[in-house]
Order: sequence, then structure tokens, then C-alpha cells
Amino acid sequence: MTAPKKLFIKTYGCQMNVYDSERMTEVLGGQGYVETSSPDDADMILLNTCHIREKAAEKVYSELGRFRKLKADKPDLTIGVAGCVAQAEGAEIMRRQPLVDLVVGPQSYHRLPELEAKARTGQKVIDTDFPEEDKFETLKSRPRAARGPTAFLTVQEGCDKFCAFCVVPYTRGTEVSRPVDRILAEARDLVDRGVREITLLGQNVNAYHGAGPDGDCSLAGLIAGLDKVDGLERIRYTTSHPNDMQDDLIAAHGECAKLMPYLHLPVQSGSNRILKRMNRSHTAESYLRLIERIRAARPDILISGDFITGFPEETDADFQATMDLIEEVKYGTAYSFKYSTRPGTPAAERPQVPEDVSSERLQRLQALITRQQHAVQDAMVGREVGVLFEKPGRQPGQMVGKSDHLHAVHVSDPTAQPGQIARVRILSSGTNSLAGKLID
Ligand code: 5AD
Ligand code: SF4
Repeated sequence: MTAPKKLFIKTYGCQMNVYDSERMTEVLGGQGYVETSSPDDADMILLNTCHIREKAAEKVYSELGRFRKLKADKPDLTIGVAGCVAQAEGAEIMRRQPLVDLVVGPQSYHRLPELEAKARTGQKVIDTDFPEEDKFETLKSRPRAARGPTAFLTVQEGCDKFCAFCVVPYTRGTEVSRPVDRILAEARDLVDRGVREITLLGQNVNAYHGAGPDGDCSLAGLIAGLDKVDGLERIRYTTSHPNDMQDDLIAAHGECAKLMPYLHLPVQSGSNRILKRMNRSHTAESYLRLIERIRAARPDILISGDFITGFPEETDADFQATMDLIEEVKYGTAYSFKYSTRPGTPAAERPQVPEDVSSERLQRLQALITRQQHAVQDAMVGREVGVLFEKPGRQPGQMVGKSDHLHAVHVSDPTAQPGQIARVRILSSGTNSLAGKLID
């Protein structure tokens, strides 16, 4: 028997890349590859990349440079770049870094078996098509490998919103939703493999409108279908756009017990002038009204968001409006970034805010979010929460999981098992996690 070939895959960026990396690993499993955690003994190295900000893209090139010696020692080693940098830069990657043998975009990685075989013959291979055939249909024959009690499931890809700062509509293409029956089949398959929580993924997941038994189905309709899957205990979804937060989805937060009380709803800025310049087509007020309606449906829902500081032409007053909005919403957590110029997007052409100004605003914004996060965490102390345990913690006898509100929760209890959903009394709140004890 020949020894299996080894695949080292490194994932950058969003959760959809995590999902894609898992699927690429499964596809290459069919070619005799097993995953390795070190590039040193790999026969193939794949970097699944992110193009959302300049820093993320540049990291890929510095990482690739580190493989020079490995490739010199092992000329058979195949080095591939997948994901959004692959899509955006294509052949340019090989010009900048000749070590790269293979470039594959997010819509064509189901073709990896052929692409890998071609690369093995010494050819340079590039596939950044948006193919006619459906990637997911081809992938269907490769079983999902469950890696624990939680899983991601891509239900929608691409974006038609064209926010002025964002590369996603160019790298991931236009919005496409997968049909309901395929998603339910994949979910059942995951549950059969021990998964108890599924996070539905999409760049614009709440714009989901996949084909269902009675015509187009909304995300709320899809969630209602998943609610009936026996053994599936928890449902989440990310990332959403405020303008696609329909009434049925808001209602689902009040009605569907499996739908967890956590919502990632990016607003980006609290200034209507900047929101307009960002092409967001909502206002700070409409966002705040929306949050109110969501909280009316599910009062304890934890809200998270995304923010950009230093978007072109952002003034102190614009930034203050963002801080005011944050004060009003009271976020449980949030992701925030300095504006990064992305070539080819409309905002790249506009007057830029000096770096030190964006940095200072980002620091102030993050300090406010951290205060809010700690206030929300501290308020959990003494409360009873549901926790799905995922894996042992760093201390002996410790188990770590996620609460319904997506807080990391530690318990020290030898009876706690991965995959178990338990009631836990929260005893204390740390920097980024909670600690508690099992309730009998
Ligand atoms: N610069 C900074 N942040 C960006 N994001 C998207 N594009 C950029 C950019 N050019 C942020 C947005 C988005 C999140 C995924 O990344 O906040 O919601
Ligand atoms: Fe990018 Fe805006 Fe689409 Fe989100 S909604 S992926 S920020 S263009």
C-alpha cells in the first residue's frame, strides 16, 4: 500500500473560507490526501486566502516566501493558492511568487482533483472560472467529515450590494442561493455524523432565496425546515445585511427555539452621510429601529456588528455619530477595522483619511466595544445558560463550549463531554470568556 499523500491547508479570513477549506480537504481526500498540521511533511500546501483588506492579502505573500526552502528540498511539493486572493489576482500570484504551482478560485475548487493532477505534471495551473456546473453538486459525492459537534454550512454565496469599500461582489460574484432540499440533505448528513449545531453561512445570508418545494424560500423558511431535523439542536446564521432583515426572519427569532439568540448585523458607520457614500442604502435610524424590532421579538438577543473607521472623507463628527450609535445599541461584541483601500472598488478613488486618524478612531471605538462586551458578559454572572461543549480546555479536567449567546464558557467538571448540551450556572466573567458550573 502506498503511503497517503499529505495536505497542509491554511485558512485565512471568514467562516466561509473555513467551510471551503473543509470541503477542499474532503475533495483531495478522494485523491489519497490526508491532512497534516505541519507544512514540513506536506506533499501539497494550500493557502485558502482572504482579499478583504490589504493586510490579509499581503500575509499570503509573506507566508509563501517561507516555503522556498521546503520546495527546494522537495521539488515534488505542490504549492497552491485558493480563495479570494486567487480569484482577485489570478496569474499575478505566480508572477509575484514563482513557487506557486496552482491557483484556484472559490467557485472552482471542486475541480481540484484534475487541477492537482495537472500541477503534478509540472504545469502551472490557474482556474478562477465561475463555472456553469454547480460546485456543490460535484461535492455531493464527497462525504462531509464532521470535526466536532458544530459545523458550518454554506447556503448562499456572493453579494449584489456593492458597498463602496468591499471586494466581495468581485471575488465571490453575484448572489446565488442553494436549493432547500440540498441544504437539508447536507444538514441531515452532518447530524448523522454527530453535529448538533449548524451555522448557515453566506456573504449575505439573510438575502437567501433558494428554490423550495413551493417556489422561492426565505432564510426564515429554510430555518423552519431545519427546525424539523431531529438531532439538530442549534441553528445560527451569518453574515446579514440590515436591508434583508425581513419580518419572517425577525419573527423566527421569537418563535424558533433552535434559533440561537445571537445576531451579527453589520452597520459599518453611524453617520448617514458616510453610509450614503458607502452605498449601504440604510440609515443609522433605520438600523436602530430594526434592532428595536428584533429585540421586541427576542429580548435577550446578543447583537454583534462590523465597523470601519477612516472611510474616505469621514470627519470627526461622522465618527462621533458611529460612537453614538454604538452607545445606543449596546453590542455584545463587534469586529472593527481601519478602512483599507481595495483597488477596483469605488471608494479607492476618493480622498483618503490619514492613517493616524483612522488608527486613533479605531482604538477609541474598540475601547467602547470592549466596555460593552464586558458589561454584557458581567450581566451573565448568576444566570443559567445552555452550553454546547466542544472540546477540553487548557486546564486539566476543563471543558469548553459555547453558550446560546455564543460566549465561550469553561466548566471544570469530569462529567462534561464534547457534544453534550448542558445547563450551566455562570459564576464569573473573564476577558473573553465566562466560567460556570453544571446544574444537576
Ligand atoms: N476596509 C476595511 N474593512 C473592510 N471590510 C470590508 N471591506 C473593507 C475594507 N476595504 C469589513 C466590513 C465587513 C467585514 C467583513 O470587513 O466591516 O463587514
Ligand atoms: Fe461587502 Fe457590502 Fe456585500 Fe457585505 S453587503 S459582502 S460589506 S458589498
